[in-house]
Amino acid sequence: MEPTRNIRRGGFPPGFVWGAATAAYQTEGAATEDGRGESIWDRFTAQPGRIANGDTGRIACDSYHRYPEDVRLVRELGLDAYRFSIAWPRVLPDGHGRVNPAGLDFYDRLVDELLAAGIEPFATLYHWDLPQALEDRGGWPARETVDAFAEYVEVVVARLGDRVSHWITQNEPWVVAWLGYGRGEHAPGRHSERDALAAAHHVLVSHGRAVEVLRRERPDAQVGITIDVIPIHPLTTSEADVAAAVEEDGFRNRWILDPVLRGSYPEDTRRRFERILPPVLDGDMETISARIDFLGVNYYRRHVVQAGSNGTGPVVVEVPGGEHTAVGWEVYPDGLYELLARLHAEYAPPPLYVTENGAAFGDSRRNGTVEDPQRTSYIHRHLDAVARAIEDGVPVEGYFVWSLLDNFEWARGYGPRFGLVYVDYGTLERVPKQSYHWYRDFIAAHRKGVAAPS
Ligand code: FCB
Repeated sequence: MEPTRNIRRGGFPPGFVWGAATAAYQTEGAATEDGRGESIWDRFTAQPGRIANGDTGRIACDSYHRYPEDVRLVRELGLDAYRFSIAWPRVLPDGHGRVNPAGLDFYDRLVDELLAAGIEPFATLYHWDLPQALEDRGGWPARETVDAFAEYVEVVVARLGDRVSHWITQNEPWVVAWLGYGRGEHAPGRHSERDALAAAHHVLVSHGRAVEVLRRERPDAQVGITIDVIPIHPLTTSEADVAAAVEEDGFRNRWILDPVLRGSYPEDTRRRFERILPPVLDGDMETISARIDFLGVNYYRRHVVQAGSNGTGPVVVEVPGGEHTAVGWEVYPDGLYELLARLHAEYAPPPLYVTENGAAFGDSRRNGTVEDPQRTSYIHRHLDAVARAIEDGVPVEGYFVWSLLDNFEWARGYGPRFGLVYVDYGTLERVPKQSYHWYRDFIAAHRKGVAAPS
């Protein structure tokens, strides 16, 4: 492991938001309680062979019942903010129409608990758990899902908008579209490039519609979107590999960034998918590029690509050597600096938040503690990258570790543990890991303006 560089003083300005993140389907459990409707993830996880070990989010971390304990863990960590997501099927069990007051009550209690503990809620409106009823009518590739989302946002904001001031409309549009509808790895498990492109467009339009609703109902709200941006590097300096990296960047990054921040789709990727693009209606691009107050970025790793043989598209390759996490992702902290600097230089977005960053390692509990030096090192080195970006003038205003808790890691089930807090899935007991204590001390040291622990 590389030695950890010390964070330079002054890297994190006063007011920098220290946080941690979770998402509803990954942590709440209580999948059939208090009138919650079925989500695409309930349906998907019930299908044999979809999820490692046959795991489901039925119980997860049981945060639906144990949220006071989770909020206490956030408070004792000394965080300013907690990012969680709202489960659409808890609020509107059929996706639209009938409201389930008990579902809203849960988020009401959670928000009040956070505020009472002095923690700012950052609420994500969509973190992948589409109501199954909407999937049955076509899901994200169907335009009507956009209207249903706007209706859902109105209902949520009417209830929580007096206390929640930071909103994230969508989490990782590319993943929703391509893993859900293009490659079938995530719910709903479809395999169609045409559907993936339609889903991506509608997720983006739904983001813009949510911005409109939030601005109208709560003019002071801070509204943003979270995008997973992946630095793409060519394997060699050959012309073919460099061109492959540009092509992959268009597909993976610019296809989402350009519409949101520039109001247009990138021309090179448009040409690639010309024959299967969804209709873009008048006003869509203006809606998608509505002014936002912040841009959230999730960062875990870079991709190295090579030109495919015989002119086929870019191929993501494994880099030999290097350091990898338990899910095989390369540890590459410089990528976080690179992408923050790039966003600033190329898109000049409003303030940035790192809304997710973290790593899974094979943690185990021994004598009541969990030693996870690799996670501490991962987070420390990525914070160093954030500090360097800030020093170079990039307006990064906060950082959220993924995740507060070990949780349901989508198709990989409960195997990978990303938490600062270990969850014993048998007893649901929470055990803060060493990285939790390190992060707490690191934040405290920065607040006091003294050198941070290494
Ligand atoms: C991100 C997701 C998040 C979590 C991490 C590891 O893509 O937004 O829910 O699963 O990956």
